[in-house]
Amino acid sequence: MIEVPVTSAFVLSHTGPEVYRGTAARAFLNSLDLSAADSLLVQFQDTWEEECVEILNRKYGVQEYCHGYLSKNPSAQVIQLGGGLDPLTIDLAECYPNARIFDVDMANTALKAEINETVGGPEISFLTANLADVPSLTEVLSNAGWRPDAPTLLISEGISYYVPKEVYRITLSALRTSGGCLVFEYALPDELLVGTPKADIIEDFFTRFSALLDLPFTMQRYADSEVKDLAESMNGEVEEIVTQHQLEFRRTGRNEMRPVPNMGAIRVASIRFA
Ligand SMILES: C[S@@+](CC[C@H](N)C(=O)[O-])C[C@H]1O[C@@H](n2cnc3c(N)ncnc32)[C@H](O)[C@@H]1O
Repeated sequence: MIEVPVTSAFVLSHTGPEVYRGTAARAFLNSLDLSAADSLLVQFQDTWEEECVEILNRKYGVQEYCHGYLSKNPSAQVIQLGGGLDPLTIDLAECYPNARIFDVDMANTALKAEINETVGGPEISFLTANLADVPSLTEVLSNAGWRPDAPTLLISEGISYYVPKEVYRITLSALRTSGGCLVFEYALPDELLVGTPKADIIEDFFTRFSALLDLPFTMQRYADSEVKDLAESMNGEVEEIVTQHQLEFRRTGRNEMRPVPNMGAIRVASIRFA
């Protein structure tokens, strides 16, 4: 078993191998020792079920969109932004062997490449880069073979929280390709959750999670209108914004944890570029 840094272990504890289709993606998760997060998990026991449902729903929504796009464009390029130790790119590379896949993060990319090799995973470019530094990010991608003139699926999951909005807009705009798209996962700000069921639990989770990461800035949260503005500024169009209520129904065929349409914080938007 490979020991994983504590915050990655914490994030990965919210999901499981069954979320992925591919053999290597499942083997990747099974080979990780997540025990570093045990003491943290105790601190989050009271909000655990709520966190897990939102994360499983978001993962379902992001994957559903990726599979939809790649089944129609199987040789497209894919860039995952802030992939961490999530094996999503491994899963996609197993399902779409003709796709050219780039997995970018500022940390743990060598470890991810090593684990992928150990489990006999597919070919992926694991790249170390800071998403806030566009010139070096695009240089790293270009050196690895990314072509800005060919359609690219951009995956933004679990990362919109950490990069200041205007900086992230510039990064996403630099990676936008004609015929490509962006799947953008985000959480609504607390003020938009006021009055919705379980809003207090969500607010409490984000407050404690930010403190845990010791972030030097407030977590970035987006209103739907800001996501539409982001799409427009990239000369793109929002195809769909999917709520937790819709995601839970699509994932499980029922609405047990998110029975009310405006419940829950995390949403998944899909944006198309002409
Ligand atoms: C919460 S993890 C999300 C992992 C994965 N995408 C998921 O959804 O499970 C956030 C990741 O973003 C990365 N990250 C944060 N800021 C970054 C930046 N400026 N440049 C590159 N990576 C960054 C972190 O290193 C971490 O791996």
